[in-house]
Amino acid sequence: MKITEYTCDVLVIGSGGAGCKCGIIARKNKQDVIMVSKGLTFKSGCTMLAEGGYNAVFGYVDEADSMQLHILDTLKGGAFLNDLHLVHELVLESPKRLIELESYGCLFDRQEDGRLNQRAFGGQSCRRTCFKGDQSGHEMMLGLKEEVIREGVKTHSEVMITKLLFDDDHTKIVGAMGISLADGSLVIYHSKATVIASGGCGWLYPVTSNAVQKTGDGIIMAYEAGADMMDMEMVQFHPTGMVSPKSRKGVLITEAVRGEGGHLINTDGERFMINYDSRQELATRDIVARSIYTEIQEGRGTEDGGVYLSVTHLPEEQVQTKLHTMVQQFKDVGIDIINEPMVVAPTAHHFMGGIRIDGNCESNIKNLFAAGEATSGVHGANRLGGNALADTQVFGNIAGVQSSKRAQETDLEQPDKKEIDDEIGRISSLWTEGTYEPEDIKTEIQDIMWKYVAIVRDEEGLKQAQIELDKLQEKTKDMNVPSYTEYNTHLVTALEVISMIKLAKLIVQSALLRKESRGAHYRIDYPEKNDAEYLKSFVINKNREVTTVKRGLFDD
Ligand code: FUM
Repeated sequence: MKITEYTCDVLVIGSGGAGCKCGIIARKNKQDVIMVSKGLTFKSGCTMLAEGGYNAVFGYVDEADSMQLHILDTLKGGAFLNDLHLVHELVLESPKRLIELESYGCLFDRQEDGRLNQRAFGGQSCRRTCFKGDQSGHEMMLGLKEEVIREGVKTHSEVMITKLLFDDDHTKIVGAMGISLADGSLVIYHSKATVIASGGCGWLYPVTSNAVQKTGDGIIMAYEAGADMMDMEMVQFHPTGMVSPKSRKGVLITEAVRGEGGHLINTDGERFMINYDSRQELATRDIVARSIYTEIQEGRGTEDGGVYLSVTHLPEEQVQTKLHTMVQQFKDVGIDIINEPMVVAPTAHHFMGGIRIDGNCESNIKNLFAAGEATSGVHGANRLGGNALADTQVFGNIAGVQSSKRAQETDLEQPDKKEIDDEIGRISSLWTEGTYEPEDIKTEIQDIMWKYVAIVRDEEGLKQAQIELDKLQEKTKDMNVPSYTEYNTHLVTALEVISMIKLAKLIVQSALLRKESRGAHYRIDYPEKNDAEYLKSFVINKNREVTTVKRGLFDD
């Protein structure tokens, strides 16, 4: 097998908002940086797809806004499962990071007087979400791309990292390895500090707003290396994804539609959110998603399994300018949203669980850092819309600063050769004619997760999911991976499904532990929140028993 080796000070795995920010900052700190992406750098990942906006307290629209309010909204939205320290960082740093984005060339929308405009988003007590129409993530990525290039971050596209590498003593991470998708050769990176910024895992579900690369590889790689995983049961379903045509199922319909005044309506013609929450369409996502689910379950949904989202009562000019992407997105499929309602249903959107980090974005494994959606803690049990783009910049920045510091005080070390040989063996062994198609296994995982581990869960279903995932894991030992080397999508999917099943099992394990309903985790058999017993996060580590971290306003 051909092997290519690279060295750098800081290795960044993932090239979305968090990865780019981290790479830029590490370069500004004079580090040699390589940023690796499973997809095409700058074009893949979820930041590019993000629409509605970036939360930052400026008080330009609502003068009453404050850092305290943003903190409180984030904690309430997260059902108090958030890591308080991380929430403080998010809120206090987010405005500065937005101004930096503008210095990279991003331009957010303005009010008449030139000050930033801010829109309403779910679960927020003030208009706090800065935006660029409904293409906010796209605008961010354009600026980040410019700055990544200006700063000289080296970028490697279409390299799938499959394993983190330890030193001989197994005390710290000294790099990572994977395969180049273009020719199937092996790539080994030697680094002083490594940052996982590879995002979440929406594709564990058949209906998702996520970019196609989001199968949770980075999270599971960290787990396999011994990193702490936290809040793994917390999967967010965005209330409004497209329902049809089938090819667009799950594609995001931005919360900005509701922020701009859109109404959710059932097939009885009723604006139903008032029956669930006084904030109506701008309640938090967990509540809105469950309400839509309930309407559909109780027979007030459309034939194709959705409810209506209408902006037909809003001024056309407002819809055309503020929701331009939505207008186009629906025009493409023959719907004129100025005059007709959209049909929407929940779609897997954001993973609040993931790698546990400290305030320096470092995991419990030395020299392994993480930022963005691959991490846990900041959003607790449910993320507020607009807090994810802010998260990428705030924690991408911290990871950039801290990984640079670490790299400056660290020498390159050789990885444990046996680990490399084992990984080569594992990958090579997949390259065989087997019974099961990896793509079919992926579909089976998604079906299991949708059926048993989605918006509404219970003990019986979760246990059934465990049984079915175990069976599926057996099937991965007999997968069909033809031997072609260039862009071997069978191999990529085979590697992905192995990780996806492990991740799915951790989500189920954690969902079984939380015998209550909190945020995005809703147990039909335990429908109430139980602060007395469950105001705590579950931490799963492959090398020890599950532990917990106390939460609430006075967490440790
Ligand atoms: O609905 C949206 O535009 C998504 C925003 C977010 O997830 O923060």
